[in-house]
Amino acid sequence: MSRVVDRIEVINFLIDARGYRRYLEIGCQYDVSFHAVRAAEKVGVDPASGGTLRMPSDEFFALAVEPFDVVLIDGDHHHDQVFRDVCHALRLLRPGGVVVMHDCLPPTAGHEALSLCGTAWRAFAKTRERPDLESFTGDFDFGVGIVQKRRNSAPVRIDRPMAALTYADFTANREAWMRPLSPDGVKILALTGPDAW
Ligand SMILES: C[S@@+](CC[C@H](N)C(=O)[O-])C[C@H]1O[C@@H](n2cnc3c(N)ncnc32)[C@H](O)[C@@H]1O
Repeated sequence: MSRVVDRIEVINFLIDARGYRRYLEIGCQYDVSFHAVRAAEKVGVDPASGGTLRMPSDEFFALAVEPFDVVLIDGDHHHDQVFRDVCHALRLLRPGGVVVMHDCLPPTAGHEALSLCGTAWRAFAKTRERPDLESFTGDFDFGVGIVQKRRNSAPVRIDRPMAALTYADFTANREAWMRPLSPDGVKILALTGPDAW
């Protein structure tokens, strides 16, 4: 069994394993992921380049009603915008669908620059507090967050606003807050299907 090693392989694996059809990507840039994802129907939102719709994600989500099976959040990497994108994506998610978040595991404090991973990790960590969301990260490709609407099997309490979280908090709580998994671990979890998560 080949291993998933980046966000694109995770998404394509889920599409194949679960029969997903509709894909939404927030932040498309050069369409590296958008072109490589093998979904039957694709919508890509970016105010600057790539995808299919030229607008910021807030504008898209304000009007969007059509559901999606899998959504990649990879636009503005500030935690407030990422968290908002995740919440909007969850609203549009079909039952059994998945939200994927890029750049959730910055390898150094310097990677918190908005041009790199930003503070997307703080938005992911907040999903870990919610009893109705099961989430973990693939520990590769700068951290591939996977969020699903299911009972949280290992919730954490962070009890601080995202703006107050530091990189020292991240490194001290990486295992519990981020739930990092190996490529094989991600694939095994994905293979078990939504009902077993
Ligand atoms: C890291 S790149 C995306 C890379 C792409 N997802 C990939 O996998 O190849 C980030 C993109 O997010 C876009 N972006 C920035 N703010 C945004 C927003 N508010 N809504 C949607 N996209 C945004 C930028 O224009 C940029 O193209």
